Amino acid sequence: MAQENKFIADLEKGLIDRKIFSDPAIYRMELERVFARCWLYLGHESQIPNPGDFITTYMGEDPVIVCRGRDQKIRAFLNVCRHRGNRVCRLDQGNADSFTCSYHGWTYGNDGSLIGVPYFKEYYYGELDKESLGLIPVPLVDRYKGLIFGNLDPAAPSLSDYLGDMAWYLDIILDRREGGTELIGGTHKWTISANWKLAAENFVGDMYHTGSTHASAVKSGFSGSQSGNRYSPALSSGFQISLPAGHGLGARWISGGDAAVGAPAPEVAAYLRDTHAEAERRLGPVRAGMMSPVHGTAFPTFSFLHGTHTIRVWHPKGPDKFEVWAWCIVDREAPPEVKEAIRLHYLRRFSPAGTWEQDDSDNWIQATDTSRGMAARRIPVNYQMGLGHERAQEGLRGIVGDFFSETNQRNFYRSWAELMARK
Ligand code: FES
Ligand code: FE
Repeated sequence: MAQENKFIADLEKGLIDRKIFSDPAIYRMELERVFARCWLYLGHESQIPNPGDFITTYMGEDPVIVCRGRDQKIRAFLNVCRHRGNRVCRLDQGNADSFTCSYHGWTYGNDGSLIGVPYFKEYYYGELDKESLGLIPVPLVDRYKGLIFGNLDPAAPSLSDYLGDMAWYLDIILDRREGGTELIGGTHKWTISANWKLAAENFVGDMYHTGSTHASAVKSGFSGSQSGNRYSPALSSGFQISLPAGHGLGARWISGGDAAVGAPAPEVAAYLRDTHAEAERRLGPVRAGMMSPVHGTAFPTFSFLHGTHTIRVWHPKGPDKFEVWAWCIVDREAPPEVKEAIRLHYLRRFSPAGTWEQDDSDNWIQATDTSRGMAARRIPVNYQMGLGHERAQEGLRGIVGDFFSETNQRNFYRSWAELMARK
């Protein structure tokens, strides 16, 4: 704990040092000790269904290419030329057998090997060791029910050990129906001038903010839900779940087992009821019929909102800047009109123009900004809600706190501090 206190004021008391949201030295250490050690979300298999398909993304600030080879294997590489470090692939996605660097023309196969060097015979005299100059592979790449993750640490635990019981809860999104899920409508990307942890901790466990932060969206009538603020009547049946490795989610019990509660449109409600029996066969009664996850984060940066059908990743871009990359996720077998209704709901609520999205980001910007002040940064941030009231609950995995509690944030920062303290 002594080492943790270097970064966390006093986690046992629910107090966190504000400088972790703006200190450049802490940020540089995070890239090394958090982002280079944890399993990070890379993409969804539906983005690269065919041999040669690729997407580009980031692991921390490291750019990577994720591609499906002719052998169907999914690989990931640093998107960095081995010659002089130019970014090899500039596209967001596409299909290619090879990638040619725009600077001097070195060419790499989609298995990462260096297959072409201009003037190799004439001016390198055939002496360049091409074998050792392929794109640097991401050492660990694995999948969980459509989601592709990578890890830069070859000694990291397996993805299934890392996700642990988070996978059991993610199944509610990923495994309702035969065929799994797919992403629709492309990728939304935008930049927020705030520290990435404020977004990750909001999604991991912050139901407390909805009543005030999102009050204007609800009052305006543009909340995007049929029933307005559906959270209010559900408070007594909701709970937060903390899991090992810093993962967490908030969920609630569905009264009467109606899977369509909170559905954004009549066709979506009908679809959820029609497919409920299949979901219950696959997931069992607790997860299919009784529980609806609301929000969650798989540590450190993969987050979701179940009712809005968004999954997203928070890419750090410095201590006070991050990019949101967000997608709409649907059951692959859902009818087109249901997918379209879900996509529109996602756009209206959580997207660059979403009414709820903008409420959140402005608060994160202000909280980051205040952490820079010499006097303000001496005052710890407070995460004391529900401290000491965490408990086990029959039928659920993990440690459970009240729907309105900061249980999951404390769990998130405990894992963060442990990683930061470990050289
Ligand atoms: Fe890529 Fe020179 S930097 S070929
Ligand atoms: Fe919010």
